[in-house]
This record gives sequence, structure tokens and C-alpha cells, in this order.
Amino acid sequence: MTDNTTDAVEGAGAIDISKRAEESVVHESQRDREVLLTVKDLAKHFPVKEYSGLFPKTLQTRAVDGVSFDLAKGETLGLVGESGCGKTTTGRLVTRLLEPTSGSIEFEGREIAHLKEKALRPMRRDIQMIFQDPYGSLNPRFTVSKIIGAPLEIHGLVPKDKIKARVQELLEIVGLNPEHVNRYPNEFSGGQRQRIGIARALAVEPKVVVADEPVSALDVSIQAQVMNLMSQLRRDLGIAFVFIAHDLGIVRHFCDRIAVMYLGKIVEVGDREDIYEKPQHPYTQALLSAAPDLNVVRGAVPNERIRLIGDVPSPIDPPSGCRFRTRCWKAQEICAAEEPPLDPEDGKPSHTIACHFPEVKTNLVAEADAS
Ligand SMILES: Nc1ncnc2c1ncn2[C@@H]1O[C@H](COP(=O)(O)OP(=O)(O)OP(=O)(O)O)[C@@H](O)[C@H]1O
Ligand code: SF4
Ligand SMILES: [Mg+2]
Repeated sequence: MTDNTTDAVEGAGAIDISKRAEESVVHESQRDREVLLTVKDLAKHFPVKEYSGLFPKTLQTRAVDGVSFDLAKGETLGLVGESGCGKTTTGRLVTRLLEPTSGSIEFEGREIAHLKEKALRPMRRDIQMIFQDPYGSLNPRFTVSKIIGAPLEIHGLVPKDKIKARVQELLEIVGLNPEHVNRYPNEFSGGQRQRIGIARALAVEPKVVVADEPVSALDVSIQAQVMNLMSQLRRDLGIAFVFIAHDLGIVRHFCDRIAVMYLGKIVEVGDREDIYEKPQHPYTQALLSAAPDLNVVRGAVPNERIRLIGDVPSPIDPPSGCRFRTRCWKAQEICAAEEPPLDPEDGKPSHTIACHFPEVKTNLVAEADAS
């Protein structure tokens, strides 16, 4: 199948977002931030049955367990961490595809954590999600016209007789051939399908997009095209992103701020430079040093990989105190007894670290091996 997409995003201005683009905030300084979304102590516990005894017991998987962050207009927050740490669940909570067990999600000053479907409907337009799997996230029985047109119809954004033209316009914006409007998802490549997913999210002119590993299922060459598209859309439309990814190189390229998650919690949040050049949490340092292609870590983390000892503990029964302590080479008694709060670096409120002994270190390998 030929990929007749274009690298450039021609006509991105076709979306009526000129005002929003003007309002788009470039975050050179945290002082200028205009916060759109505030998440506080967010938790999602999934009940799971255990069948070890005579009777099944219900246990709780603490997938997300007290996560707090905020997101400003036009900003891109990267959410990184090992598989199973709760990134997707956090994304689904923020978009309210899931209801949280507890905690708060404030969008433009309004609490949305526990709103019912009817009350949520207007806000669904503002917070959209792009899914990881371009194959599973599009209904194979619907044409592209229906997939992208449905949100336009639901939110009454375009008169019915103009929907098709609008869908074609959106296809053009994401670099797809507008003549393919009546095709089905299986007639497109993975990269093209992801563009359809992006067009569907953009159709309603969202203020926030949660992109969950949007390029990890794509070939490397197509990854670059889709990332270029998202970068351009972010610039042109001023959309704020929560960008979930494994690839720390892509996150560094795309995100203004980064939140590092471990076992359902955020352990460090900071501007890109803080996280990549002066990480202070041992887990962040380990994560960065395990990314051999990331030739960016100047001084803070050695070129050699930090060997983390042991497996990630179960989110059903996480360790007491600091959850990273079972794999941390710096752990002390207090780490088991007291959970470290997410505290700001001295004099720098934008960089917070949840560790009893945060520090920028230059030679972590020896300590990791010695423990
Ligand atoms: N519906 C569910 N029922 C029970 N457990 C769940 C459910 N969804 C997620 N989990 C569990 O919650 C934890 C977090 O899952 P989540 O998908 O959010 O992780 P992730 O960080 O996105 O991982 P990955 O990088 O592999 O995509 C995992 O232990 C997972 O098994
Ligand atoms: S709180 Fe203790 S165990 Fe946790 S990361 Fe810091 S030093 Fe390691
Ligand atoms: Mg995930």
C-alpha cells in the first residue's frame, strides 16, 4: 500500500484557531504559565480476584496511586516510566474514559473527576485522546468520513451537509488524501491510520490532547513523519499535550516538561533540561542511563548503564514508604518508613523530586554495582 501522506502539514491554518494560536503560550519561563488542567492525588485502583485459598479474595491493583501535576495552555508534558507504571491509566483518567477511585481533576477551574456522562459531554470536546494502537482504535466497519465526522456531528460543530467537506479539510491538514474519505481503516497503512486518529482528535478543536504512545506501533521512518505532524499542529494550534512515551529521545524532542512515573506515582517532574541534564531522583537517573542512544546526559548520568536490581514490585502490594526502595542503591531506613513527598528543588518550584536523598550525581555506576 502506498503512503501518500505529505511531510508538511499544508493548510493547518484551515482550522479556525487563529485566536487560539495567538493565545498559545511558549514556556520559556514557568512564571508565564496559564494552567488549564490540575490533577491532585489522583488514584485508580482496579479490583482483581485472587484464587489462592478456598474462596476468591478481591484485591486492588493500585495502577495510579496519588498522582499530582498540572498542564498549562500550549504546554507539552511528557509522561515516562517503565511498562505498567500507570501512564495509560493516568491518560484515561484525565480524559475521563475512566472514573478515578479518588482525587481531583480540575479543567479550566471546574472539577470533572466524578462528573456523569451528560455533564461531561461539553468537556469531552476539550480533552481528546490519541491511542497507541492505530489498528485497534478505529472502528473497521466505519468509513473515514464517519470516524472523523461523528464527533463533529455529536458536538454540533458543523451543519450536517458540510460534514464531509470538513472531514476532507481535516484529512488534508494531517497530510492524507481528501479523496480517500470513503475508505475503510483497513485500506490504510499504520502511519496513515494514526493520522486518521489525529484528525479525529483535532476535529473538535481540543484544548488538551492526551497522546498515548502515538508512534510506538509505527515504523521508525513513519514515526518521524507523525511526530513532525504533531509538532506542527502543536505550534499552529496551541494545543496542550500530555505525551505518554517510552522513547526518551522522542520525549526530549517534543516535551517542555517531563513527569517520571514509578509504580503508580510520580517521582520527579521538571523542565526538559532539569530532567535530562540534572535529574535528581535515582529512578530518573537509572531510566536515562538505560537509554544508550540518548547522548544528551551531560555530566549528571554516566554513559554506562545503571543496573537496577530486582523486578518492579506488584502494584497490588507496593513497598511501604518509597516504592522505589527495593531497587534503590541509596535506600536507608527512612525510605521504608516514610513516603517521600514530591518536594521542590531548593529555589526552584518547577522541579520537584520525591526522594529523601535527592542529588545530582556524576558517578552512579559504582554505587549501583556496590549495593
Ligand atoms: N482494567 C484493568 N484492570 C486491572 N488492572 C489494570 C487495568 N488496567 C490497567 N491495569 C493495571 O494497572 C497497571 C498500570 O497499567 P497501565 O496500562 O496504566 O500502565 P502503562 O504505564 O501504560 O504501561 P505500558 O507502558 O505497558 O503501556 C498495570 O499493573 C496494569 O496491569
Ligand atoms: S527515597 Fe530512598 S529509596 Fe526512594 S529513591 Fe530516594 S533514596 Fe532511594
Ligand atoms: Mg500504556
